[in-house]
Amino acid sequence: MAMDSAKLILGGKEFELPVTTGSEGEIGLGIKSLRAETGAITLDSGYANTGSCESAITFIDGEKGIMRYRGYSIEDLCEHAIFPEVCYLLVFGSLPSTEELETFVHDLTHHSLIHEDMKKFFEGYPPNAPPMSVLSTIAASLSAYYPVNDDPAISELNIIRLLAKLKTIAAFAYKKSIGQAYVYPRNDLSYAGDFLHMMFAVPSEDYELDPLIERTLDLLLILHADHEQNCSTATVRMVGSSDANLFSSISAGISALSGHLHGGANVAVIKMLNMIREDGGNIRKYMEMAKDKSSNFRLMGFGHRVYKNFDPRANVIKSANDRILSELGTEDPLLDIAKELERMALEDEYFVSRKLYPNVDFYSGLLYRAMGIPTNMFTVMFALGRLPGWIAQWIEMKNDPRKRIYRPRQIYTGSLSRPVVPLADR
Ligand code: CMC
Repeated sequence: MAMDSAKLILGGKEFELPVTTGSEGEIGLGIKSLRAETGAITLDSGYANTGSCESAITFIDGEKGIMRYRGYSIEDLCEHAIFPEVCYLLVFGSLPSTEELETFVHDLTHHSLIHEDMKKFFEGYPPNAPPMSVLSTIAASLSAYYPVNDDPAISELNIIRLLAKLKTIAAFAYKKSIGQAYVYPRNDLSYAGDFLHMMFAVPSEDYELDPLIERTLDLLLILHADHEQNCSTATVRMVGSSDANLFSSISAGISALSGHLHGGANVAVIKMLNMIREDGGNIRKYMEMAKDKSSNFRLMGFGHRVYKNFDPRANVIKSANDRILSELGTEDPLLDIAKELERMALEDEYFVSRKLYPNVDFYSGLLYRAMGIPTNMFTVMFALGRLPGWIAQWIEMKNDPRKRIYRPRQIYTGSLSRPVVPLADR
């Protein structure tokens, strides 16, 4: 049945709402003129069922566990592409040819140095500064070092700069947090390899890059590269909608990602698994706590706003996990706890009835641990992966002829008008 319009009855009067249908058949009811015509707004806490834009970048079907970047399934991309190809795909809209990829990779490598003066910022941070705080503030300060304007050539250069430099900033933030000398980027290494080198090389020793760890990191970056209108991406679009520059918008996205309900969940998962281990491995106790609403405790790495069947990213990680951990020869007691927790939750009525499945963060932290990435860098890794998605969404928002500044409405529930009683009389 064609669904080209919908009717709303309010106060006995009928109003027609236009319908927009997406390329995968998703239906959106247009409510733009609802307030002008009826005085009403829609109310949707957490925007759980509100479309904020039309987008041609990522398609997710949460019920069927489908996720595609520009039409390509995440499973296919993980098997046949490398992270820079996925960056190109998201940012420019199509997979690159061999020449396009060569030029892109050349640009990504040759813009990876940061201005020498910016090193002074790192020095100003206290010892053990959390790398996510450093990442967001230094990303914002890039706009003080590189011109930002509407010139298309400058804008494209800034996109390359940001993609190239954020990994250097991330690695420097880590070196700062452990008090080691910064290691400069190397142009002969892959994107993932260069990052690992900057993280783990020390001036006094040769650093040997492990190809398995390099490829695993590349895979994790691809898995995180975009996820349509999640909290941080919507933040990037919202900040950018005021005409704030790319660097400021991405910095805001990094801050949004840092929370433990979003990108910070991979850290929270490891903390939770450690807590269970230190508490004698009593998994049942923590399952019961997660079900008890008064406890304020949730099973970290479980549940998702969109995925109500399975998180396809979690599936890719899970199948890579066993193979990679055995090839790396890793034995992690937290892995056994994670597996048992997952098994128990998937058989528990509370989790089954609410469709709470392991999400991408349930296993990503365990993989990062096996690769030697320290816990305080997990969310930074998520940010590096998500960067091309944020940039693609920012560009799409800028180029949308219907773009307007983001400005939601509210239903006011406060006091009615009242006079100010002078201080002496209160
Ligand atoms: N443990 C226990 N109960 C949960 C959990 C959980 N992890 N997640 C949701 N619930 C319950 C929740 O209490 C509610 O129960 P009831 O209907 O009885 O009130 C029901 O499930 C629905 O939860 P919700 O809070 O309305 O769901 P949401 O869509 O607002 O939140 C979420 C999604 C991911 C924030 C949430 O599931 C959560 O807090 N999970 C743990 C944190 C986490 O792993 N976050 C990473 C998400 S994936 C990475 C990313 O894309 O950012």
